[in-house]
Amino acid sequence: MNAVSPRIPIVDIEAQHRQLRSEILEALRDVFDSRAYIQGPRVRAFETAFASEHGVAHAVGCSNGTTALSLALEAAGVGPGDEVVTTPYTFIATAEAILHLGATPVFVDIEPDTCNIDPRLVRLAVTPRTRAIVPVHLYGTPCAMDALREVADENDLVIVEDCAQAHLAKFEGRAVGAFGRAGSFSFYPGKNLGACGDAGMVVSEDEDTISRVRKLLDHGQGTKYLHDIVGYNRRMDAMQAAILGVKLRHLEKWTSRRRENAASYDARLKPAGFQVIEPPDNVEPVYHLYVVQVDNREETTRALASNGIGFGIHYPIPLHLQPSLSELGYKAGSLPVTEATAGRVISLPMCAELSRDRIERVCDVLTGVARP
Ligand SMILES: Cc1ncc(COP(=O)(O)O)c(C=O)c1O
Repeated sequence: MNAVSPRIPIVDIEAQHRQLRSEILEALRDVFDSRAYIQGPRVRAFETAFASEHGVAHAVGCSNGTTALSLALEAAGVGPGDEVVTTPYTFIATAEAILHLGATPVFVDIEPDTCNIDPRLVRLAVTPRTRAIVPVHLYGTPCAMDALREVADENDLVIVEDCAQAHLAKFEGRAVGAFGRAGSFSFYPGKNLGACGDAGMVVSEDEDTISRVRKLLDHGQGTKYLHDIVGYNRRMDAMQAAILGVKLRHLEKWTSRRRENAASYDARLKPAGFQVIEPPDNVEPVYHLYVVQVDNREETTRALASNGIGFGIHYPIPLHLQPSLSELGYKAGSLPVTEATAGRVISLPMCAELSRDRIERVCDVLTGVARP
Protein backbone atom coordinates (compact mmCIF):
# COMPACT_ATOMS: atom_id res chain seq x y z
CA MET A 1 0.00 0.00 0.00
CA ASN A 2 1.49 3.40 -0.87
CA ALA A 3 1.42 6.46 1.40
CA VAL A 4 -1.66 8.09 -0.19
CA SER A 5 -3.90 4.98 -0.25
CA PRO A 6 -6.79 5.14 2.21
CA ARG A 7 -6.30 2.79 5.18
CA ILE A 8 -9.81 1.49 4.60
CA PRO A 9 -10.20 1.37 0.80
CA ILE A 10 -13.63 1.49 -0.80
CA VAL A 11 -12.87 -1.87 -2.42
CA ASP A 12 -9.93 -4.11 -1.49
CA ILE A 13 -8.93 -5.96 -4.66
CA GLU A 14 -5.46 -6.50 -3.22
CA ALA A 15 -6.87 -8.53 -0.32
CA GLN A 16 -8.99 -10.62 -2.70
CA HIS A 17 -6.01 -11.32 -4.96
CA ARG A 18 -3.74 -12.25 -2.06
CA GLN A 19 -6.03 -15.22 -1.31
CA LEU A 20 -6.27 -16.33 -4.94
CA ARG A 21 -2.81 -15.48 -6.23
CA SER A 22 -1.43 -18.96 -6.86
CA GLU A 23 -4.73 -20.28 -8.26
CA ILE A 24 -4.98 -17.34 -10.70
CA LEU A 25 -1.34 -17.52 -11.78
CA GLU A 26 -1.72 -21.24 -12.44
CA ALA A 27 -4.79 -20.56 -14.62
CA LEU A 28 -2.92 -17.83 -16.51
CA ARG A 29 0.07 -20.10 -17.12
CA ASP A 30 -2.32 -22.64 -18.55
CA VAL A 31 -3.70 -20.09 -21.06
CA PHE A 32 -0.22 -18.86 -21.91
CA ASP A 33 0.91 -22.39 -22.74
CA SER A 34 -2.29 -23.16 -24.68
CA ARG A 35 -1.76 -20.31 -27.20
CA ALA A 36 -5.58 -19.99 -27.37
CA TYR A 37 -5.69 -16.34 -26.33
CA ILE A 38 -8.98 -15.11 -27.76
CA GLN A 39 -12.26 -16.95 -27.17
CA GLY A 40 -11.56 -20.72 -27.27
CA PRO A 41 -12.18 -23.40 -24.63
CA ARG A 42 -11.53 -21.29 -21.53
CA VAL A 43 -14.01 -18.63 -22.59
CA ARG A 44 -16.57 -21.35 -23.38
CA ALA A 45 -15.98 -22.96 -19.97
CA PHE A 46 -16.48 -19.64 -18.19
CA GLU A 47 -19.65 -18.90 -20.20
CA THR A 48 -21.09 -22.28 -19.20
CA ALA A 49 -20.18 -21.84 -15.53
CA PHE A 50 -21.55 -18.27 -15.43
CA ALA A 51 -24.83 -19.31 -17.09
CA SER A 52 -25.26 -22.18 -14.67
CA GLU A 53 -24.51 -19.99 -11.62
CA HIS A 54 -27.19 -17.55 -12.83
CA GLY A 55 -29.71 -20.26 -13.72
CA VAL A 56 -29.95 -19.10 -17.33
CA ALA A 57 -29.75 -21.14 -20.52
CA HIS A 58 -27.11 -19.20 -22.47
CA ALA A 59 -24.21 -16.82 -21.85
CA VAL A 60 -21.72 -15.31 -24.27
CA GLY A 61 -18.53 -13.54 -23.23
CA CYS A 62 -17.46 -10.25 -24.79
CA SER A 63 -15.00 -7.42 -24.37
CA ASN A 64 -16.72 -5.34 -21.63
CA GLY A 65 -20.04 -4.41 -20.06
CA THR A 66 -20.71 -1.50 -22.41
CA THR A 67 -20.38 -3.68 -25.50
CA ALA A 68 -22.40 -6.41 -23.78
CA LEU A 69 -25.35 -4.02 -23.41
CA SER A 70 -24.96 -2.64 -26.91
CA LEU A 71 -24.72 -6.12 -28.49
CA ALA A 72 -27.75 -7.34 -26.54
CA LEU A 73 -29.80 -4.33 -27.67
CA GLU A 74 -28.68 -4.69 -31.29
CA ALA A 75 -29.45 -8.42 -31.25
CA ALA A 76 -32.89 -7.57 -29.84
CA GLY A 77 -33.54 -5.35 -32.86
CA VAL A 78 -32.98 -1.88 -31.37
CA GLY A 79 -31.70 0.54 -33.98
CA PRO A 80 -31.87 4.03 -35.49
CA GLY A 81 -34.99 6.02 -34.62
CA ASP A 82 -36.01 3.81 -31.69
CA GLU A 83 -36.62 5.17 -28.20
CA VAL A 84 -35.29 3.23 -25.23
CA VAL A 85 -36.68 4.08 -21.79
CA THR A 86 -34.04 3.95 -19.07
CA THR A 87 -32.78 5.53 -15.88
CA PRO A 88 -30.78 8.76 -15.71
CA TYR A 89 -29.18 7.47 -12.51
CA THR A 90 -26.49 5.09 -13.77
CA PHE A 91 -23.03 5.06 -15.28
CA ILE A 92 -22.76 6.82 -18.67
CA ALA A 93 -22.19 3.46 -20.43
CA THR A 94 -25.91 2.66 -20.26
CA ALA A 95 -26.74 5.67 -22.45
CA GLU A 96 -23.71 5.22 -24.71
CA ALA A 97 -24.77 1.66 -25.55
CA ILE A 98 -28.18 2.99 -26.69
CA LEU A 99 -26.85 6.05 -28.54
CA HIS A 100 -24.22 4.11 -30.50
CA LEU A 101 -27.05 2.12 -32.09
CA GLY A 102 -28.65 5.33 -33.34
CA ALA A 103 -31.44 5.00 -30.75
CA THR A 104 -32.49 7.65 -28.22
CA PRO A 105 -32.42 7.14 -24.46
CA VAL A 106 -35.57 8.45 -22.77
CA PHE A 107 -34.90 9.10 -19.10
CA VAL A 108 -37.51 8.70 -16.38
CA ASP A 109 -37.10 9.37 -12.69
CA ILE A 110 -36.14 6.86 -10.00
CA GLU A 111 -37.79 5.51 -6.85
CA PRO A 112 -36.29 7.14 -3.75
CA ASP A 113 -36.01 3.89 -1.73
CA THR A 114 -34.07 1.82 -4.27
CA CYS A 115 -32.63 4.47 -6.63
CA ASN A 116 -33.92 2.29 -9.47
CA ILE A 117 -36.16 3.29 -12.36
CA ASP A 118 -39.80 3.92 -11.38
CA PRO A 119 -42.03 1.54 -13.41
CA ARG A 120 -45.03 3.87 -13.18
CA LEU A 121 -43.03 6.56 -14.97
CA VAL A 122 -41.82 4.06 -17.57
CA ARG A 123 -45.44 3.44 -18.50
CA LEU A 124 -46.03 7.17 -18.96
CA ALA A 125 -42.94 7.54 -21.16
CA VAL A 126 -44.01 4.98 -23.77
CA THR A 127 -44.64 6.44 -27.25
CA PRO A 128 -45.21 4.80 -30.65
CA ARG A 129 -41.40 4.96 -31.17
CA THR A 130 -40.54 3.14 -27.94
CA ARG A 131 -38.82 -0.15 -28.68
CA ALA A 132 -37.16 -1.21 -25.43
CA ILE A 133 -36.74 -0.72 -21.70
CA VAL A 134 -33.29 -0.90 -20.10
CA PRO A 135 -33.62 -1.33 -16.34
CA VAL A 136 -30.33 -0.94 -14.44
CA HIS A 137 -30.05 -2.91 -11.20
CA LEU A 138 -28.16 -0.08 -9.56
CA TYR A 139 -25.78 -0.84 -6.68
CA GLY A 140 -26.87 -4.49 -7.02
CA THR A 141 -30.53 -3.94 -6.07
CA PRO A 142 -32.89 -5.61 -8.57
CA CYS A 143 -35.47 -3.38 -10.26
CA ALA A 144 -39.21 -4.10 -9.98
CA MET A 145 -39.11 -6.66 -12.79
CA ASP A 146 -42.77 -7.70 -12.40
CA ALA A 147 -44.07 -4.17 -12.99
CA LEU A 148 -41.59 -3.58 -15.82
CA ARG A 149 -42.57 -6.84 -17.50
CA GLU A 150 -46.19 -5.75 -17.35
CA VAL A 151 -45.42 -2.45 -19.13
CA ALA A 152 -43.26 -4.26 -21.70
CA ASP A 153 -45.89 -6.93 -22.42
CA GLU A 154 -48.73 -4.41 -22.75
CA ASN A 155 -46.74 -2.29 -25.22
CA ASP A 156 -44.83 -4.99 -27.10
CA LEU A 157 -41.45 -3.75 -25.85
CA VAL A 158 -38.20 -5.61 -25.39
CA ILE A 159 -36.45 -5.58 -22.00
CA VAL A 160 -32.66 -5.72 -21.84
CA GLU A 161 -31.34 -5.62 -18.27
CA ASP A 162 -28.12 -3.79 -17.41
CA CYS A 163 -26.77 -6.12 -14.70
CA ALA A 164 -23.26 -4.59 -14.59
CA GLN A 165 -23.54 -4.13 -10.81
CA ALA A 166 -25.77 -7.08 -10.00
CA HIS A 167 -24.03 -10.47 -10.37
CA LEU A 168 -26.19 -13.08 -8.60
CA ALA A 169 -28.79 -10.52 -7.46
CA LYS A 170 -32.25 -12.07 -7.36
CA PHE A 171 -35.79 -10.90 -7.97
CA GLU A 172 -38.40 -13.24 -6.49
CA GLY A 173 -35.81 -15.99 -6.14
CA ARG A 174 -34.49 -15.81 -9.70
CA ALA A 175 -31.20 -14.25 -10.80
CA VAL A 176 -31.36 -11.04 -12.81
CA GLY A 177 -30.45 -11.09 -16.50
CA ALA A 178 -33.15 -13.18 -18.13
CA PHE A 179 -36.40 -11.45 -17.15
CA GLY A 180 -36.54 -9.92 -20.60
CA ARG A 181 -34.84 -10.70 -23.91
CA ALA A 182 -31.30 -10.51 -22.49
CA GLY A 183 -29.08 -9.13 -19.76
CA SER A 184 -25.59 -7.63 -19.82
CA PHE A 185 -22.86 -7.94 -17.19
CA SER A 186 -19.56 -6.12 -16.64
CA PHE A 187 -16.42 -7.67 -15.18
CA TYR A 188 -14.60 -4.37 -14.72
CA PRO A 189 -11.99 -5.04 -11.98
CA GLY A 190 -13.92 -3.39 -9.13
CA LYS A 191 -17.19 -5.21 -9.85
CA ASN A 192 -18.50 -8.01 -7.58
CA LEU A 193 -16.96 -10.40 -10.10
CA GLY A 194 -13.99 -8.54 -11.56
CA ALA A 195 -11.42 -9.39 -14.23
CA CYS A 196 -7.85 -8.04 -14.33
CA GLY A 197 -8.76 -5.98 -17.37
CA ASP A 198 -11.97 -5.48 -19.34
CA ALA A 199 -14.58 -8.18 -19.93
CA GLY A 200 -18.37 -8.54 -20.19
CA MET A 201 -21.15 -11.07 -20.73
CA VAL A 202 -24.58 -11.29 -22.35
CA VAL A 203 -27.05 -13.81 -20.93
CA SER A 204 -30.39 -14.89 -22.38
CA GLU A 205 -32.95 -17.68 -22.48
CA ASP A 206 -33.37 -16.99 -26.18
CA GLU A 207 -31.06 -18.99 -28.43
CA ASP A 208 -31.56 -16.72 -31.46
CA THR A 209 -30.55 -13.64 -29.49
CA ILE A 210 -27.43 -15.37 -28.21
CA SER A 211 -26.34 -16.66 -31.60
CA ARG A 212 -26.83 -13.17 -33.05
CA VAL A 213 -24.69 -11.70 -30.25
CA ARG A 214 -22.03 -14.36 -30.90
CA LYS A 215 -21.93 -13.43 -34.55
CA LEU A 216 -21.96 -9.66 -34.00
CA LEU A 217 -19.03 -9.74 -31.58
CA ASP A 218 -16.86 -11.78 -33.95
CA HIS A 219 -17.04 -9.80 -37.22
CA GLY A 220 -20.44 -11.16 -38.15
CA GLN A 221 -19.16 -14.66 -38.81
CA GLY A 222 -20.71 -17.97 -37.72
CA THR A 223 -18.40 -19.97 -39.97
CA LYS A 224 -14.81 -18.79 -40.41
CA TYR A 225 -14.54 -16.13 -43.14
CA LEU A 226 -18.24 -16.29 -43.95
CA HIS A 227 -19.57 -12.95 -42.73
CA ASP A 228 -23.34 -12.85 -43.10
CA ILE A 229 -23.87 -9.70 -41.01
CA VAL A 230 -21.67 -6.66 -40.41
CA GLY A 231 -20.17 -7.17 -36.97
CA TYR A 232 -17.45 -5.95 -34.64
CA ASN A 233 -14.42 -7.21 -32.81
CA ARG A 234 -15.76 -7.40 -29.26
CA ARG A 235 -14.49 -10.84 -28.23
CA MET A 236 -13.52 -11.94 -24.73
CA ASP A 237 -9.89 -12.87 -24.17
CA ALA A 238 -8.96 -16.17 -22.57
CA MET A 239 -6.73 -14.68 -19.84
CA GLN A 240 -9.72 -12.77 -18.46
CA ALA A 241 -11.95 -15.84 -18.75
CA ALA A 242 -9.39 -17.91 -16.84
CA ILE A 243 -9.20 -15.35 -14.01
CA LEU A 244 -12.98 -14.98 -13.90
CA GLY A 245 -13.41 -18.76 -13.84
CA VAL A 246 -11.29 -18.94 -10.68
CA LYS A 247 -13.13 -16.05 -9.04
CA LEU A 248 -16.61 -17.29 -9.98
CA ARG A 249 -16.15 -20.26 -7.63
CA HIS A 250 -16.00 -17.77 -4.73
CA LEU A 251 -18.77 -15.42 -5.81
CA GLU A 252 -21.60 -16.93 -3.77
CA LYS A 253 -19.52 -16.75 -0.57
CA TRP A 254 -18.34 -13.20 -1.35
CA THR A 255 -21.94 -12.16 -2.01
CA SER A 256 -23.05 -13.48 1.40
CA ARG A 257 -20.24 -11.50 3.04
CA ARG A 258 -21.38 -8.34 1.23
CA ARG A 259 -24.91 -8.89 2.54
CA GLU A 260 -23.62 -9.35 6.09
CA ASN A 261 -21.55 -6.18 5.77
CA ALA A 262 -24.57 -4.25 4.49
CA ALA A 263 -26.59 -5.50 7.47
CA SER A 264 -23.85 -4.21 9.82
CA TYR A 265 -23.95 -0.77 8.16
CA ASP A 266 -27.77 -0.77 8.26
CA ALA A 267 -27.73 -1.58 11.99
CA ARG A 268 -25.64 1.52 12.69
CA LEU A 269 -26.94 3.99 10.14
CA LYS A 270 -30.70 3.40 10.00
CA PRO A 271 -31.34 4.00 13.73
CA ALA A 272 -29.28 7.19 13.40
CA GLY A 273 -31.81 8.41 10.82
CA PHE A 274 -29.72 8.05 7.65
CA GLN A 275 -31.36 7.20 4.36
CA VAL A 276 -29.84 4.03 2.89
CA ILE A 277 -31.08 1.74 0.11
CA GLU A 278 -34.31 0.01 1.18
CA PRO A 279 -34.71 -3.09 -0.99
CA PRO A 280 -38.25 -4.53 -1.09
CA ASP A 281 -38.83 -7.97 0.49
CA ASN A 282 -39.01 -9.80 -2.85
CA VAL A 283 -35.40 -9.08 -3.88
CA GLU A 284 -31.97 -10.33 -2.80
CA PRO A 285 -29.55 -7.45 -3.45
CA VAL A 286 -25.79 -8.00 -3.81
CA TYR A 287 -24.48 -4.63 -2.56
CA HIS A 288 -21.99 -3.80 -5.29
CA LEU A 289 -22.00 -0.48 -3.44
CA TYR A 290 -23.28 0.51 -0.01
CA VAL A 291 -24.73 3.99 -0.36
CA VAL A 292 -25.82 6.42 2.35
CA GLN A 293 -27.39 9.84 1.86
CA VAL A 294 -26.28 12.90 3.81
CA ASP A 295 -27.17 16.58 3.89
CA ASN A 296 -23.57 17.83 4.19
CA ARG A 297 -21.61 15.76 1.70
CA GLU A 298 -18.55 17.97 1.34
CA GLU A 299 -17.93 18.15 5.05
CA THR A 300 -18.56 14.42 5.45
CA THR A 301 -16.25 13.31 2.63
CA ARG A 302 -13.51 15.62 3.98
CA ALA A 303 -13.78 13.85 7.34
CA LEU A 304 -13.72 10.40 5.70
CA ALA A 305 -10.64 11.33 3.66
CA SER A 306 -8.75 12.79 6.60
CA ASN A 307 -9.44 9.60 8.57
CA GLY A 308 -8.06 7.37 5.81
CA ILE A 309 -11.47 6.07 4.71
CA GLY A 310 -12.07 5.52 1.01
CA PHE A 311 -15.40 6.58 -0.51
CA GLY A 312 -17.04 7.22 -3.87
CA ILE A 313 -19.90 9.26 -5.29
CA HIS A 314 -22.04 7.16 -7.61
CA TYR A 315 -23.09 9.34 -9.35
CA PRO A 316 -22.64 13.10 -8.88
CA ILE A 317 -24.13 14.18 -12.24
CA PRO A 318 -27.15 12.28 -13.57
CA LEU A 319 -27.06 11.37 -17.25
CA HIS A 320 -29.76 13.83 -18.32
CA LEU A 321 -27.50 16.68 -17.15
CA GLN A 322 -24.24 15.40 -18.68
CA PRO A 323 -22.68 17.76 -21.24
CA SER A 324 -22.24 14.92 -23.77
CA LEU A 325 -26.00 14.30 -23.73
CA SER A 326 -27.15 17.93 -23.81
CA GLU A 327 -28.65 17.47 -27.28
CA LEU A 328 -31.33 15.29 -25.71
CA GLY A 329 -32.68 18.55 -24.31
CA TYR A 330 -33.27 17.78 -20.61
CA LYS A 331 -33.21 20.68 -18.14
CA ALA A 332 -32.17 20.80 -14.49
CA GLY A 333 -35.24 20.17 -12.35
CA SER A 334 -36.86 17.80 -14.84
CA LEU A 335 -36.08 14.59 -12.87
CA PRO A 336 -36.24 15.78 -9.26
CA VAL A 337 -35.77 12.52 -7.31
CA THR A 338 -32.66 11.68 -9.32
CA GLU A 339 -31.23 15.16 -8.94
CA ALA A 340 -31.84 15.30 -5.19
CA THR A 341 -30.29 11.84 -4.73
CA ALA A 342 -27.22 12.72 -6.83
CA GLY A 343 -26.52 15.63 -4.49
CA ARG A 344 -26.61 13.50 -1.34
CA VAL A 345 -25.07 10.06 -1.97
CA ILE A 346 -21.79 8.70 -0.64
CA SER A 347 -20.60 5.14 -1.35
CA LEU A 348 -18.86 3.68 1.70
CA PRO A 349 -16.23 0.91 1.74
CA MET A 350 -17.84 -2.36 0.66
CA CYS A 351 -16.37 -5.70 -0.32
CA ALA A 352 -16.30 -9.27 0.96
CA GLU A 353 -12.99 -8.70 2.74
CA LEU A 354 -14.23 -5.76 4.83
CA SER A 355 -14.07 -6.52 8.58
CA ARG A 356 -16.69 -5.68 11.19
CA ASP A 357 -14.16 -3.45 13.01
CA ARG A 358 -13.61 -1.43 9.86
CA ILE A 359 -17.35 -0.97 9.35
CA GLU A 360 -17.64 0.27 12.94
CA ARG A 361 -14.75 2.69 12.31
CA VAL A 362 -16.38 4.03 9.12
CA CYS A 363 -19.69 4.49 10.96
CA ASP A 364 -18.00 6.22 13.92
CA VAL A 365 -16.39 8.78 11.62
CA LEU A 366 -19.50 9.19 9.46
CA THR A 367 -22.00 9.62 12.27
CA GLY A 368 -19.61 12.04 13.99
CA VAL A 369 -19.96 14.56 11.19
CA ALA A 370 -22.75 13.67 8.71
CA ARG A 371 -26.28 15.06 8.92
CA PRO A 372 -29.07 12.68 7.77
C1 LIG B 1 -24.48 0.31 -14.62
C2 LIG B 1 -23.31 0.08 -15.53
N1 LIG B 1 -23.55 -0.16 -16.84
C3 LIG B 1 -22.54 -0.41 -17.69
C4 LIG B 1 -21.24 -0.43 -17.27
C5 LIG B 1 -20.15 -0.62 -18.28
O1 LIG B 1 -19.33 -1.70 -18.04
P1 LIG B 1 -17.82 -1.70 -18.58
O2 LIG B 1 -17.04 -0.72 -17.78
O3 LIG B 1 -17.36 -3.10 -18.36
O4 LIG B 1 -17.87 -1.35 -20.01
C6 LIG B 1 -20.95 -0.21 -15.91
C7 LIG B 1 -19.57 -0.31 -15.40
O5 LIG B 1 -18.82 0.48 -15.13
C8 LIG B 1 -22.01 0.07 -15.02
O6 LIG B 1 -21.79 0.30 -13.73
